[in-house]
Amino acid sequence: MSEYRQALMPVPPWRRTDYCGALRAGDAGREVALWGWVATRRDHGSLIFIDLRDREGIVQLVFNPERDADAHAVAQAARAEFYLAVKGRVVRRSEGTVNAELPTGEIEIVVAVAEVLNPSQPPPFPLAGPDGAAEEVRLKYRYLDLRRAEMQRNLRRRHQALRGARAYLDANGFIEIETPILFRATPEGARDYLVPSRVNPGRFYALPQSPQLLKQILMVGGFDRYYQIARCFRDEDLRANRQPEFSQIDIEMTGPRPEDIHEMAEGMMASIYEYAAEIQIPRPFLKMPYEEAMERYGSDKPDLRFGLELKNLTDAFSGTQFKVFAETLARGDAIYGLALPGAYQLSRRELDELAEGLRTRQSLGLAWAKIGSDGWQGPVAKFIGADERVSAAAAAGLSEGDTLLMVAGPRGKVRPVIGDLRLQMAAKFALRDATALKFLWIVDFPLFEYSEEEKRLVSVNHPFTAPRPEDLALLDAEPLKARALAYDMVLNGQEMGGGSIRIHNAELQLRVFALLGIERAEAIAKFGFLLDALAFGAPPHGGIAFGVDRIAMMVCGTDSLRDVMAFPKTQKAVDTMSGAPSEIDPRQLRELSIRVAR
Ligand code: AMO
Ligand code: AMP
Repeated sequence: MSEYRQALMPVPPWRRTDYCGALRAGDAGREVALWGWVATRRDHGSLIFIDLRDREGIVQLVFNPERDADAHAVAQAARAEFYLAVKGRVVRRSEGTVNAELPTGEIEIVVAVAEVLNPSQPPPFPLAGPDGAAEEVRLKYRYLDLRRAEMQRNLRRRHQALRGARAYLDANGFIEIETPILFRATPEGARDYLVPSRVNPGRFYALPQSPQLLKQILMVGGFDRYYQIARCFRDEDLRANRQPEFSQIDIEMTGPRPEDIHEMAEGMMASIYEYAAEIQIPRPFLKMPYEEAMERYGSDKPDLRFGLELKNLTDAFSGTQFKVFAETLARGDAIYGLALPGAYQLSRRELDELAEGLRTRQSLGLAWAKIGSDGWQGPVAKFIGADERVSAAAAAGLSEGDTLLMVAGPRGKVRPVIGDLRLQMAAKFALRDATALKFLWIVDFPLFEYSEEEKRLVSVNHPFTAPRPEDLALLDAEPLKARALAYDMVLNGQEMGGGSIRIHNAELQLRVFALLGIERAEAIAKFGFLLDALAFGAPPHGGIAFGVDRIAMMVCGTDSLRDVMAFPKTQKAVDTMSGAPSEIDPRQLRELSIRVAR
């Protein structure tokens, strides 16, 4: 077909009657009209077979030169990813040619008429089967990547997950309200993306890191139960589970207790799993205080799909002669261990590599011992006396054949380090039950932590989180001991969502700001609108926000956010398809009163 004729066909020559991938044996005998892409083409001399693909899957087309010479000529010219319109009859495949692996494998379409609606350049990577192409190439040609069955399935599951969330929230009296994207900086711990204002030279909007303050103000505004599928922007270092732009299911309620939020959030999660995966998740979820999670798993998002808990060996080594441990104890620090069962053997080289990793990345040493039939073996075994061996074996539950990994140092540093080793061992020895869904709540977070970098207290959650009422008295004397009315929902070692009961009293909010080093004048300059709102009869309120992309990731069983977002950015926050971020025309910059210093 000439290019001229294609230009004259801005709409297909006939309406589609069916999706390719939706046809079944029961359709045999029907005349159908289809549109789709050429997935594969097999030329058998006379007969040509084309697998035609649309969003529902593929169906086999048969072109017979004796019956329909024109259609056959189209099939001869067609190549991979050409977009075709065809009409034909659905027929049962003869026995022996049935493809049991395809949902459409019992039938094929005997094509009578065919048109090329648009040819295609040869695709830079094959679209069938699991992705073999480098991610860079997939992202540059995302429109082709999106045609792949896996991406089609993932984005549809994501859609179902959101339907599940909306269905639950709508049924429970939540009102969906949009909040602005051009707003002021809201601190969630990341850097802001800024947008210059042309009409207010030298001033900037900040893209919201979350709608946190606006949803609180909606409670003051009387909306009582709010939700939004909200776009959030955070300029932070990216990882597989972090994107600069992502979506939250953002929720706020008037007057909840933490348990009310938990119950609501579990109901919503159940609805999501029902819609997206047809799975009933067990409820209620386990609740674990932050301190317990850190002590047993070395993480505030523990993966409970396997055991291998941390062992606190501090007391077991209280009388040690081993210099490194004795010095640790003298400083008031701690010793933690991980007991690897005999079935999980690490070679000497692997142990050395682990130790080297800890030394270079954490500047912490690693001591290890293998429990042999004739005692402890390993480079430090000779420093560890008989009594300590007995007490350590008891504390760690050691049996013959086990390997004990030990790290000594400040508790706050050692626990996450061993927690990390725990995850590494789970990956190495495939300890995770791949089908398990281990949900839990982490509760009783500390309100503050001390930032060595900034030399001040910082919020563990965010500055608007309320302290536990019984810990109010600690705020001035021992603020690091105050716990927050905050909670995270964790699934299989990933943080799915987090939230808190908020401060609804302006004086308490000012006190918390002051503890964070934000004095009254600065607080009023930055958050005056919130403080004002709180002063007008703000009801008690609290809420939570979930990462839509992370939920989609779990529901789809992938380990990268990029697999569940249509147009994600790379680790360097670049969109390789469009080339964003791009340079800006000098004239545009002048209009914005901006000069680029480079
Ligand atoms: P938080 O910062 O914990 O809380 O964010 C809530 C959830 O959003 C998801 N998330 C992300 N997903 C992808 N990429 C990112 N860069 C990213 N950052 C966060 C996570 C996380 O659990 N305003 C509070 C919520 C509240 O208190 O109600 C907030 O934003 O799944
Ligand atoms: P060093 O005296 O620093 O050479 O350490 C002797 C051995 O003690 C090292 O080989 C490590 O196995 C172990 N070690 C050192 N620092 C630590 C630590 N923080 N925790 C556990 N073991 C350590």
